[in-house]
Amino acid sequence: MNAVSVIVGLDTPANVLVTGASSGIGLAVVRQLLANDRVAGVFALSRHAETSPELAALQADHGERLQLLSVDLTSNEALASVAGRINIHCDRLHLVFSAAGVLHAPGVTPEKSLTSLSRASLESVFALNAFAPVLLAQALAPLLRHDEPAVFASLSARVGSIGDNQLGGWYAYRASKAAQNQLLRTLAVEWRRTLRNACVLLLHPGTVDTPLSRPFQANVPESKLFTPERAARQLLDIVAQATPANSGCFVAWDGSTVPW
Ligand SMILES: NC(=O)c1ccc[n+]([C@@H]2O[C@H](COP(=O)([O-])OP(=O)(O)OC[C@H]3O[C@@H](n4cnc5c(N)ncnc54)[C@H](OP(=O)(O)O)[C@@H]3O)[C@@H](O)[C@H]2O)c1
Repeated sequence: MNAVSVIVGLDTPANVLVTGASSGIGLAVVRQLLANDRVAGVFALSRHAETSPELAALQADHGERLQLLSVDLTSNEALASVAGRINIHCDRLHLVFSAAGVLHAPGVTPEKSLTSLSRASLESVFALNAFAPVLLAQALAPLLRHDEPAVFASLSARVGSIGDNQLGGWYAYRASKAAQNQLLRTLAVEWRRTLRNACVLLLHPGTVDTPLSRPFQANVPESKLFTPERAARQLLDIVAQATPANSGCFVAWDGSTVPW
C-alpha cells in the first residue's frame, strides 16, 4: 500500500467521489485510490456501478471503504440524491474526480461533417459532458465546504480546446468539452470568493485505451496510447499538487497548460 497524500496540505484521510467509476480512467482511479492508505473512503458512481463486476471485485477486497452509487448524471432526480447518499457515511468530501463522459453511444456517433449533426445527439452529449459536471458541483458544494483542502477535478479533452482546433469534426464532443471548460472556469472564479479551500481543475488525460476511444485508435501511435492505469497515475499526481492558486486551469496529463 502506498501512503501519499491525495491533496497537498490534507492531513486527514481523504473522502473521494469518482464518477465514470465503472470503466476506463475512472475505474483505474478508483483502484489506485483504494490502494492508498491516505484514502478513507471512495464513492464510485456510474449508471451501473452497483452491478459492475469490476467494482464488485474491488468491494470484496476493500469492504466499506468502497461505496457504489448507481446514478445517471443526466437525471435531475438522481443527481439530487447523491449528496444525501454520501452524507450517510461522511460529512465532507476532499476530492471529486469527475470522469463520466460520452463520445459514442447508441444513436451517438462523432460527426465527420455538418451533414451528420443532429439536435438529439448534441443534446445527449451536452447533457453528460457539459452540464453534468457543473450540476454535480452544485449538488456537492455543501460537502466540499469545510476547513480542509478540496479539489474538484473534471476530465475534459484537448479536442475541446477552441484555440487548438485545426482538424474539425466531432462537433458535439468538442463543443460539449469547451462548454464544460467555460462552466467550470466560471465556477472556479465564484469559488475563489465563496469556497476558498477548493480548487477546480480541468484535465486532459491524453489518449487512453478505453471503450470510449477504442473505435478511434487506428492512427494513434502505440507510444501515445496510455493504459488507464498510467493515465490515472498521471492525473492523480497533478491532483495531488493542486492548490486553490491553480483553480480554473486546463491542464494536460504532463502538467502543461492546454489553450482554451
Ligand atoms: N479515453 C480517452 O482517450 C479520453 C481522451 C480525452 C478525454 N477523455 C475523457 O475522460 C473521461 C473518461 O473517459 P473513458 O475513456 O474512461 O470513458 P469510458 O471507459 O467510456 O467510461 C465512461 C464512464 O462514464 C459512465 N457514464 C456514462 N454515461 C453516464 C451517465 N449518464 N451517468 C453517469 N455515468 C455515466 C460509464 O459508466 P456506466 O455505463 O455504468 O454509466 C463509464 O463508467 C471522459 O470524460 C472522456 O471524455 C477520454
